[in-house]
Amino acid sequence: MATKSKKATKPVETVPCEAMPAPEAPAEITVETKKKILFVASEAAPFIATGGLAEVIGSLSKALGASGHYDVRVIIPLYQDIRKEYRKDLRYIGNLNVRLAWRNQYCGIFEYRADNVTYYFVDNEYYFKRPGCYGYYDDGERFAFFCRAVLEILGYIGFYPDILHCHDWQAALAAIYLKTGYCYRPEYQFIRSVFTIHNIEYQGKYSLDILGDLFGLGEEHRHLVEYDNCINLMKGAIEVSEAFSTVSPSYADEIKYPYYSHGLDPIIRRNEFKLRGILNGIDPDYYNPETDTALFANYSAEHPENKAVCKEELQKMLGLPVRADAPIVAMISRLVGHKGFDLVKGVIEQALQRDMQFVLLGTGDSAYENYFSDLARRYPGKVVSVISFNADLSRKIYSGADIFLMPSKSEPCGLSQMIASRYGTIALVRETGGLKDSITPYGAGGNGFTFHDYNANDMLYVLNEAFGVYACKEEWKKLVKKAMETDFTWSTSASYYEGLYRDVLKS
Ligand code: GLC
Repeated sequence: MATKSKKATKPVETVPCEAMPAPEAPAEITVETKKKILFVASEAAPFIATGGLAEVIGSLSKALGASGHYDVRVIIPLYQDIRKEYRKDLRYIGNLNVRLAWRNQYCGIFEYRADNVTYYFVDNEYYFKRPGCYGYYDDGERFAFFCRAVLEILGYIGFYPDILHCHDWQAALAAIYLKTGYCYRPEYQFIRSVFTIHNIEYQGKYSLDILGDLFGLGEEHRHLVEYDNCINLMKGAIEVSEAFSTVSPSYADEIKYPYYSHGLDPIIRRNEFKLRGILNGIDPDYYNPETDTALFANYSAEHPENKAVCKEELQKMLGLPVRADAPIVAMISRLVGHKGFDLVKGVIEQALQRDMQFVLLGTGDSAYENYFSDLARRYPGKVVSVISFNADLSRKIYSGADIFLMPSKSEPCGLSQMIASRYGTIALVRETGGLKDSITPYGAGGNGFTFHDYNANDMLYVLNEAFGVYACKEEWKKLVKKAMETDFTWSTSASYYEGLYRDVLKS
């Protein structure tokens, strides 16, 4: 079946993002000619967010909706933790039973509309009335149910998208179910699927034993999802989709190599002909230092004066000496290995010999949590570690800090470096994935500081360079303006997605 669907469609050519001509909009778009896009994802801002995926689903769908070219809809599970202010306004639109292998389960559908986007929520209390989104022993079953429900709901509401755009492994089965069964029904036959990898580290791997019993797939489809003696849902979605993408051009290159691919590089290389890398954007209204109510004071690229107030108040709040001339280096991150904390551990104490302050906000691996808590104890008045996740404090740090450190070992895109830049905090990043594509080196007239190799001394060298520039107040001001004025909106990237959809639909 897979072979058949592959033969039936023409591959989409791979073109690096920068080289792609911005696609032109079709001549005249009416309600009838609007192409229909359905995003399938496990989380979406503002309803529920555990990371960058949610932000991208929220802001990209909004940007595509605003273009007026598409009927954009998004579908996610109705988790218990969907924010209350939205939950009360969800509209119940019906229910159906969803079959998956021998199971037959209730599925309620709720709807919410905002910003030219329609959101659907898949309700099943057994699967989703639990705290958080992930981390349960039966996540495979929960998201298999979700994906099967997505395809059933299309029939129930009579909405057959032109593009079924599935994000990350939790949505992979939607593409797989489409191509292994539903596409043989007349209404589903023209639906094309696009799969986006937000992080190749999480692939949805399961034992082959549960292929039929849990995922409801027959032996004839085993080859699609089988990889390394396991079921690998990400691999399956790559195989069946007309195109797949990842969230920056550099990461699209990197995942062809074992160092970055978490074992999937042979699959990526074999399917390279239909791979694209499109850099994420951020929502400029949501992250706006001019209007952000979490900030101690508001400011803009034209009038950045109040950033100094943000710094002073942040220092007071965190119990740091109020020192305008000591640069604050900040990190806001999950405390996990690939974010580059080993580099930080390697040289932070050398850096702390300089006149600087270091602020860390995040939770994660206990070894890092303990390390940074201990560092704060040993360097009172210089280091503050806040081991928690706090959205309000994160904005106070984005606005009050001077340098934002993000030395990731790998980073599919990363949004924090863009947010920091928008708030005039200069990003210092390793040249990988989306960090490389969004932050360019000061020395070459860019908007931040970068280093190439995953090496602690290289990072320290560039940090010292940044301190040097910080000391030249006029130079630093110019750099802050440049960072704040960098275009991190979706405008360009959304047009690349439009180009991708158009190419897929031509195929
Ligand atoms: C994942 C990636 C991150 C990316 C985000 C949104 O969280 O790790 O780099 O920015 O998805 O695509």
